[in-house]
Amino acid sequence: MTAHELRTKYIEFFVSKNHAEISGASLIPQNDPTVLFTTAGMHPLVPYILGEKHPAGNRLVDVQRCIRTGDIDEVGDFSHLTFFEMLGNWSLGEYFKDESIRMSWEFLTSPDWLAIPKEKLAVTCFAGDDDVPRDDESAEIWRSLGVPEDRIFFLGREDNWWGPAGETGPCGPDTEIFVDTGIAGTSESRPGISDGKWMEVWNNVFMQYNKQSDGSFTALDRRCVDTGMGVERTSTILQGKQSVYETELFVPVIARIEEVTGASYGSDATTDASIRILADHVRTAAHVLGDEAGVAPSNVGAGYILRRLIRRAVRHGRKLGVTEPFLARIAEVIVEMESGNYSTLNEKSEEIFSELTGEENRFLETLRKGEHEFEKLLPNLEKNPARIIPGRVAFRLYDTYGFPIEITEELAAEHDMTVDRKGFEEAFKKHQEKSKTDSGTFKGGLADHTEMTTRLHTATHLLHQALRDVLGDHVGQKGSNITSERLRFDFTHPEKMSADQIKKVEEIVNKQIERDLPVSFTQMTLDDARSGGAIALFGDKYDEIVKVYSIGDFSKEVCGGPHVEQTSELGRFRVVKEQSSSQGVRRIKAVLE
Ligand code: ALA
Repeated sequence: MTAHELRTKYIEFFVSKNHAEISGASLIPQNDPTVLFTTAGMHPLVPYILGEKHPAGNRLVDVQRCIRTGDIDEVGDFSHLTFFEMLGNWSLGEYFKDESIRMSWEFLTSPDWLAIPKEKLAVTCFAGDDDVPRDDESAEIWRSLGVPEDRIFFLGREDNWWGPAGETGPCGPDTEIFVDTGIAGTSESRPGISDGKWMEVWNNVFMQYNKQSDGSFTALDRRCVDTGMGVERTSTILQGKQSVYETELFVPVIARIEEVTGASYGSDATTDASIRILADHVRTAAHVLGDEAGVAPSNVGAGYILRRLIRRAVRHGRKLGVTEPFLARIAEVIVEMESGNYSTLNEKSEEIFSELTGEENRFLETLRKGEHEFEKLLPNLEKNPARIIPGRVAFRLYDTYGFPIEITEELAAEHDMTVDRKGFEEAFKKHQEKSKTDSGTFKGGLADHTEMTTRLHTATHLLHQALRDVLGDHVGQKGSNITSERLRFDFTHPEKMSADQIKKVEEIVNKQIERDLPVSFTQMTLDDARSGGAIALFGDKYDEIVKVYSIGDFSKEVCGGPHVEQTSELGRFRVVKEQSSSQGVRRIKAVLE
């Protein structure tokens, strides 16, 4: 069964169980400061899990593109990926454990659907702790379906608790389903031990709590189900393959990498790891660049992660002997293969290729300069009898020249030296704490879905319309990110805004706040929303039901919320910065005072 067939069957199955198919959201979360990328299918649904009404109903199904970079260093082995597709079904206050588990079992084992032999399956349930009791209810449902006792495992929070996606948000105990891969494993083998024998294919989360910023958990008003099945992994299992890279999702990409680099897959472990890293990272980068809300490589936030992915890919290309830009040629295959599912990849293909090549060239230039600098430092470094390059020197190369620590280590090794990695990390951490840039938003100090972010979100709509009033209708949203301190809005506009234009925008926004306009929403098809003049940016399904938020007679925009009720709740609006974000895109940071 191909990945494509798996996706289709999954949607078909849940539609037959009265779920509405919703289209996947952007990979770059809009108006959510808690994560840089969409990390799970549930992530775009957080407002609905927390209580907002979803226009498509209470039983939903979709395919969602996700990015998780937490394991970026593990990519290169058989199974880790930074980009993957998640199949998910949700109950927003409707069914809970019983129906959820029964549906999963049917989909996995029924001859009409995936037809996985029952004896190949095992499950895990939450073992319970001081805060939440053991999940005997789920275990009992599994037993009633015929899962034998020795295939039901109770594990702790590390394994059987999911969420939140960011620092705050919905979460709860889960039950996970594993398939026996047929790989021998170890004597310790059991679900939850990654020795290759048991592969997790599905995670059913029973959302019951909302984690607050002070670390406490409050009960959700209505209990929800959030499930996730990885397309790549499940395809691997269904195809009887041992690695995601052997599936049709990767085989053509690897063939292109072999063609471009001259390396051959399967020749040795180091080469294979580099090829896999290239395949994964270029795939992720192509999807980020080609997303409807795509970002360009930069030094902050999602753009920074993208930069890291591209540069790491370049380094592995160099390891395979390539010194000229080559990533666009790999991306070509990905765009060709995946545009059928994600049309923006094709629409933005030129941008994808040119951004990749641009970043490669910048990085190659960085490497050239850094190597030159390294050569200059060398005579002094060689004087150290321990042949250790101090951490602060490595950090200076990184900080001033953008020289990656791994390259410093490579060069050091060529000269029979090592790098004080611990010293480097310390210098790095000290620097981060001092500068607290935007890239900090994905670690500590996160904002959440609080009152302040809601107010800033409404202010963002006012700003968007005000920009269109002052600069023209070519202004379109390219990205939005809100923390509890400020809003950040990226939009298309070819040049720097004048001080006068900024002042006008501020005046317009503040005037709408003073007018105390009501904020309300109605639901309609995306097509109707567009023809009714609402600004609609994302989603390509014209018959999809969407929410249109109106702010009095001033602004009308397709959006999921949440918003304040009256604009007078906002206070005073002030632009703190207007700057370039990328070619043809400006960025405004603004606050409410
Ligand atoms: N949100 C759950 C996961 O990502 C389903 O595993």
